[in-house]
Amino acid sequence: MIRVKNLTKTYGQLKAVDDVSFDVHTGDILGFLGPNGAGKTTTVRIITCFLPPTSGWVEVDGLNVFDHSLEVRKKIGYLPENAPLYSEMNVLDFLHFVMSVRGVPKERFGKRTKEIVEICGLGSVIQRSIGELSKGFRQRVGLAQAMVHDPEVLILDEPTSGLDPNQIAEIRSLIKKLGKEKTVILCTHILPEVEATCGRVLIINEGKIVADGSPEELQSSFRGKEQIYLELKTSSVDVPTKLANLENVEKVEEIQSSGDGLKKFNLQCAKGADLRENIFRLAVENNWVLLEMRKQQASLEEVFRQLTTS
Ligand SMILES: Nc1ncnc2c1ncn2[C@@H]1O[C@H](COP(=O)(O)OP(=O)(O)OP(=O)(O)O)[C@@H](O)[C@H]1O
Ligand SMILES: [Mg+2]
Repeated sequence: MIRVKNLTKTYGQLKAVDDVSFDVHTGDILGFLGPNGAGKTTTVRIITCFLPPTSGWVEVDGLNVFDHSLEVRKKIGYLPENAPLYSEMNVLDFLHFVMSVRGVPKERFGKRTKEIVEICGLGSVIQRSIGELSKGFRQRVGLAQAMVHDPEVLILDEPTSGLDPNQIAEIRSLIKKLGKEKTVILCTHILPEVEATCGRVLIINEGKIVADGSPEELQSSFRGKEQIYLELKTSSVDVPTKLANLENVEKVEEIQSSGDGLKKFNLQCAKGADLRENIFRLAVENNWVLLEMRKQQASLEEVFRQLTTS
């Protein structure tokens, strides 16, 4: 749906975006991650036809953004970092205004407004002036203005910045819902947001793409040894020895052993080995009561920090 090829944007000496290439497919929710100043906003401004690149090109649905700028804009809904709103208008008038600018036929205004108000949860504020709204509601109106023309692609630059946890959760679930039908690019540096909503992650640092994959892929490729946390109950004293004898176990660390038989371990295993089944069988053979067993994952935050700090 979106194809970015060798995109570069320089400001004087500064390469804000440096030879970036990636594709986004229809139905993807792409998390575009990077630290402050990494080049996220610059990249999406080029995709949305707000900025010309220094070199390279972008296609949206097969259309080049320079040669077919107007057609491309019709296909895209864009929520910039600061939602573009007229604070003296009320929500309804503003939505109608954006619809007319976006070329939605007048006879469809009523139906489309109803749909958008429903999707973005604006029913309670529809008659209120935008300037009076709380930040969360303004952000929702920003999202609504991006969607009035029912675009195939939605590009959202930090859509949840400044929102309270309830509103964040609502906007995230809204993005997830929208992602079922649309192609979404979500710029953010909030990692739980990406984990909660995105099927794919692109990490940009100093203008260059440094990682591309699903959150799970990134986590597993940056995970060194596999770690398993184990909690069991037994009075037998040979648990560490028996665990250490399992194939692919490299280190057994006993975290806790209390008088009532509760024992906690961290097992370090060979890379790529999943020992949970074998541990389960060992526990059954020895009559250990297995209370908890889980794989410890490198968090997306660790991956992000590894890739974006020198
Ligand atoms: N108009 C401009 N003139 C000069 N430099 C600019 C301009 N716009 C952006 N930059 C620089 O380009 C780099 C990338 O900025 P950009 O806004 O794309 O980062 P970002 O990843 O969106 O960061 P943030 O997370 O802080 O929003 C920064 O170093 C920024 O200072
Ligand atoms: Mg930005």
